[in-house]
This record gives sequence, structure tokens and C-alpha cells, in this order.
Amino acid sequence: MSTRVVSVEFQDNVAVVTVDNPPVNTITAAVREGLFQAADQIRAQPGVKAVVLLCKGSTFFSGADINEFSGPPKEEEYRRLFAQWEGMSVPVVAGMHGTVLGGGLELSLACHYRVAAPGTRLGLPEVTLGIIPGAGGTQRMPRLIGVEKTLELILSGRPVDAAKAVELGFVDAVIEGDLAQGTIEFAKRLVAEGKGPRRTSERNVDPATATDEIIARLTEQAKKQYPNRQAPFFAIDAVRASLRLPLEEGLKYEEELANRSKATTEAKALIHVFFAERETRKIPGLPADVKARPVQKAGVVGAGTMGGGIAICFANAGIPVTVLDATREALDRGLKRVEETFDSMVKRGRITAEDKAKRMSLIRGTLDYADFADADVIIEAVFEDMNLKKKVFAELDRVAKPGAVLATNTSTLDIDEIASSVSRPQDVIGMHFFSPANVMPLLEVVRTDRTGPETLRTVMDLAKPLRKTPVLAKVCYGFIGNRMMEGYAREAQRMVLEGATPRQVDSALERFGMAMGILAVFDMAGVDVGVNVHKANADKYPPDPTYYQADLALYEAGRLGQKTGKGYYRYEPGDRTRYDDPEAIELIRARAKKLGVEPREHTEEEILERCLYPLMNEGFKILEEGVALRASDIDVVWTSGYGFPRYRGGPMFYAETIGLKTLLDGMLKYREIFGPMHWEPAPLLVKLVKEGKSIADWERSRT
Ligand code: NAI
Repeated sequence: MSTRVVSVEFQDNVAVVTVDNPPVNTITAAVREGLFQAADQIRAQPGVKAVVLLCKGSTFFSGADINEFSGPPKEEEYRRLFAQWEGMSVPVVAGMHGTVLGGGLELSLACHYRVAAPGTRLGLPEVTLGIIPGAGGTQRMPRLIGVEKTLELILSGRPVDAAKAVELGFVDAVIEGDLAQGTIEFAKRLVAEGKGPRRTSERNVDPATATDEIIARLTEQAKKQYPNRQAPFFAIDAVRASLRLPLEEGLKYEEELANRSKATTEAKALIHVFFAERETRKIPGLPADVKARPVQKAGVVGAGTMGGGIAICFANAGIPVTVLDATREALDRGLKRVEETFDSMVKRGRITAEDKAKRMSLIRGTLDYADFADADVIIEAVFEDMNLKKKVFAELDRVAKPGAVLATNTSTLDIDEIASSVSRPQDVIGMHFFSPANVMPLLEVVRTDRTGPETLRTVMDLAKPLRKTPVLAKVCYGFIGNRMMEGYAREAQRMVLEGATPRQVDSALERFGMAMGILAVFDMAGVDVGVNVHKANADKYPPDPTYYQADLALYEAGRLGQKTGKGYYRYEPGDRTRYDDPEAIELIRARAKKLGVEPREHTEEEILERCLYPLMNEGFKILEEGVALRASDIDVVWTSGYGFPRYRGGPMFYAETIGLKTLLDGMLKYREIFGPMHWEPAPLLVKLVKEGKSIADWERSRT
């Protein structure tokens, strides 16, 4: 028999079931149907002594079909299917390779034996999507490795490799060489040794793995690791149940908890971000026949913080990159920092010394623009100065080959103006990396009115080998991310002027889930960086004498943040711990007095509203102006580049969570108190509330 995706053949007395559902053998409805039929067929076939389950292509089952999450629950069907496989009267062996996650791993647990190719990665990452394993993982895994290890696996969300899985005890052997052949031989050996089925469901959970101490420790750990979250606690509840309930009942309890977890806002938010990240590469209006140009060589101008990080990204991707700086000293300093970054990766076991050598050999320093002649893409990352950037682009225009992408990493400058300095503006584009560029996943791709479609496609596609999530933006001040940051940070600083302490503001934001409070972020990035941007762009801001004045007061007192040991907080040498500093508070209060800022009491609620409402409000403007292609792109920018909690789905998703009317009413409330200069609601927000529509309604109405 074979269906489109599942085939069965018999080799001697072994039934070999092979699934081929490219690209990653997701367990779709067709796969489940095929597996049902295969089990029936094997049962009907006389003389079968063992069954082997394999997958073709790059991986064994990579997981359940996430597109089915929003549809009717599938747990019951999974239960029936797995019961049918587990119920076979001859040994069933899963032969695994690739990345085996979630439902894929759960399916293997319903087999009687499991073997894997070296390097296979196996995991139950459901909690990272706000849900729990719902196809038996919480009930079968503890029967194999106990409650404690199961919970450690589920709560970490991270896969383990095959060797570790053998050590943990849920994989029987690592198969070197040909996996299919090795798995069949493994099955034949079982038969020869007279071994029958070994059903996970018939095993008992070891109670010593679920003592009160163990559960208390894991619960405490989950509380710390997952603040504001529910899924990890549903998982703990479900796995513990494996100890007291027989499998059938345990599976039903798991289903109940899985369905409850799916209904949470956190699950909806995390799944929203998961899909949003896969959507960003789609560019409506870009003809399908527009092809990316190959990128085999790259160039970077400026060997500073960003240039060095960008060069590392190319080297990591195996793309040779030439780095240019203005002076020998700057170049050497930059290349030394690159080497130190690789050294620390080696030290932390992220790469081998061999990897480091290989990657370093891909990075070449130069002082001569002529060395860019064969580069396919050149990224400029010199000081943030328009005249300097124009000079650099004029040089690039002179030496770059026709069709080379000429990109700038500017955070604030007008890329249209930069493009005016070259004879080929169609090749000019913004590639806005985030610091540290070799770590942060976000890449804002900024197109000008004249950026050509091929340039755009090339850069969007280049994001993949560079391991970045590209989000397309149009030129405007601050693009998507920094433009939304403006009001967010403005209010944080303003509240400090009104008498809130830096810690009060930052703690409120961190309890909400931001990776780091915004004032601590300024200390980390350098208070001077923000001040310089605001000085250079003074004409772009509203005439508010209190605007970003806390920053300025600290800056003028030489408090530049971590690098000077003091900023909003105080730091000890070699330590990033933030200590409250009365001196900073005093400085800012004195500035507030001079500016005539009225002191004010701040509840935690007000701190969050005043920081987050302007942030979300700006998102509506960006959306309506077409600066972002879609609301979910804005969410990706903030969750992948600015530490906005994924489990809140990003600012636009969060606006819908609290309700657009709540957001609008909040904007109006603060407009009443502080005046219209900063608190005018975005027209699109007003319109949607008036018409009772959602962001998705509006997006649909435009296509
Ligand atoms: P940086 O000061 O660390 O590095 C700038 C480098 O450019 C220095 O090595 C300098 O010697 C070199 N340079 C100056 N003039 C040059 C010339 N004529 N020719 C060749 N090289 C020259 O600055 P950073 O932080 O790396 O910023 C670079 C760009 O990236 C700026 O446009 C900045 O706005 C942008 N950016 C910075 C981020 C950050 O967090 N630091 C984040 C995103 C963008």
C-alpha cells in the first residue's frame, strides 16, 4: 500500500513504513490518515515480526501541524492513532533523524523502541508557544524517564541531542551509518532475541522522581523563568498526573489542560508571533519573477561596534567579507574586537577553535575602497553623520560593480538623501541591524522611493543566511522601531522628572515583561548616544522644553551610563548590577525644578500606560502611513529587536488584547492632563474604535 505520503514495504519479516511529507514531515491530516492505513495493512499482513517507522528527507516528524491549532482540537485523533501503533503485537521501532519536536517526538514515544542518527535533536518545545504537549508527551515521557527529567525537558523548551536522549533514557541507541538499514537491523535483532512489544503505556512512573521537593523546586524555577505565564504550570500539573492516573485517564486530563492552555492569551500571542515571523518576507506588489541577486562576497565600511558585528554575521554565514576603516588604528582595533567576540564564542562552547579560524579567515581588513570591486553587497556603518555617509557612498559608487547592493546601517538619517549621492539610487537600501549585530535577530530593511525591486528581494533573501528576521520599512524618522521608541522613552524620562525613581519606572516595565527597563537600556547603550541623536535632530521634535531632559541632565554631569560607572543608576567596576543612586535622582530633580515640571505620584498602572500607550499609538500611525506593511511586522520588530515580551504578542497584538477603546480612552485621559502635544490619538485608532473594527478588519479592507 501507499498513500501520497506514507508507504509500506516488507523486507523479510519487517514492515518498513516510510513517510515522505516535505519539507519537514509535519504530521498533517494526510500523514495521520496514511499512518492509520499503514497500521491496518500491517495487521492484516501475515508473518510480520517487527515494524520500523522512518521518514524521508531532512528530518523525522518535525512536529504537529501548527496551522491546525486554530481549528477543532485534534487530540482525540492523535490518541486513537498512537494507541493503534502502540497496540501492535510485534515490536515497533522508530528510526529518527533531524529535528524531532513536539508531536513528532510524542509519536515516537508511542512506538516500542526508539533509535536515532547521531546529532538528531529531540524536544518538547510547546511551552515556548504557550501550550503543552497534547499528544501524550506529558504522560508517556514520565513513564520512560520519570517526572523530574520530563519536566526539565518540557520547561527548558530546548531540544537535546541523540546522545543526551540515550543518557536520559528515552532513546535506546544511536545508530551510526545508514539509519534505515541500522533501524531495520535493530528490529531484526529484537526479533532474534525474542523481544516483543514494549509499550510505554504499560510502564509505571517512578514516584521517587516526583517528590514534593522536586515539584517545589521545579515550580519555583518555572515561576522565575516564566513570569506572567501559565503554560509551564499547566505542564507541571499534567506531568504530575502521570503518577496517579492510568494512561487513558492521564491522556484525557492532558487534553483538558492542553485545551485550556490553547485558550490563553499567552498562547494566542506566542502563536501570533510565530506566524508573524514567517510572514515578514512576503512583500505584496513585488512581482514573483523578481529574483534575488547572488551574494557571494560582501563589504562593510566602518569597523566599529556595528561594522564589526555585521562582519561577524557574514563570516558566520560563510560569506567572505572585506571590512574598511579610515585609519589603520581604527581598523586594527575593530578586527581585534571581532577576534575577541569569536574567542568568547569558543570559550562558551558555541563554536570550536577550528570554526573560529575558518570564520576569521573570511574577514579581511582594508583601507582601500578598490577592494570592494567584487563585492555583491556593501554595508556602510560609519559615524552617524550625513556628510560623511554621502562621501562614503560617493566612493562606493566609484568602485562597486554594477548591481552591487549599497546599504546603510543608519538609525536616523534620511536614506533618500544618502541615495542622492550616487548615480544608481535603485541599488541603495537601509539594512538596520541592532546591537550587538551578531546576536540580535532583527533586521529592519528600509526602502526608499527609488529602491529597485531586485535590490529589495536580494536583501530580504540575504537575511536568511545571516540568520536575521527581516522587516520591511519605508524611510521616515526612526523607521518602525526607533520611531515607536521615541514616545515610550520620552514618558519614562518625563516621569523621572516628575519624581518617579529610575527603578520604579524600570521595575514596572520589567514586571510587565520588557527584557530590560528603558532607563537601564540607556545606561547600557550610553546616555550620550541618545543625547547626540536628540541634539542632531532637534528640529524633528515637538517644542517641549522637558523633552528628553533627564538624559541631558545626566549627560552634562558626565554620567554616561555603564561605561562611566554611573548614569540613571550606579555601577561597580566589572559588574552590571544596578544600584540606586541618590545623586542621579537629585540631579534629575534639580533639572525638573529648573524646568518647572510639576511633581506627581505614579502608580504602576500609570507608568505602564504612559510608556506603552504612546508606543502603541505610534504603531497605528506607522500602519496607516504604510511605513510598515502589516501590523504583525510591527509586532516582530518589537519582540525581536526591543525586548517586548513575545507572550504579549507585540504592541499591536497587545493593543487588541487590552481593547482599542481602552487605548483610545487612555490617550484621551492623558491628553486631558498633559495637553495635546504628545497625546493626540492616531487617526486610525480613532477610526477603528468609532467603527468597532479590529486591525485585522482594516487590513482586510485594504487588500
Ligand atoms: P562606531 O563609532 O562604533 O563605529 C564607526 C566606525 O566608522 C569607526 O570604526 C570609525 O573609525 C569608522 N569610520 C569613521 N569615518 C570613516 C570613514 N570615513 N571611512 C571608513 N570608516 C570610518 O559606531 P557604531 O555604533 O558602530 O555606529 C555605526 C552606524 O550604525 C551609525 O550610523 C549608527 O547610527 C548605526 N547604528 C548603531 C547602533 C548601535 O547600537 N551602536 C544600532 C544600529 C545602528
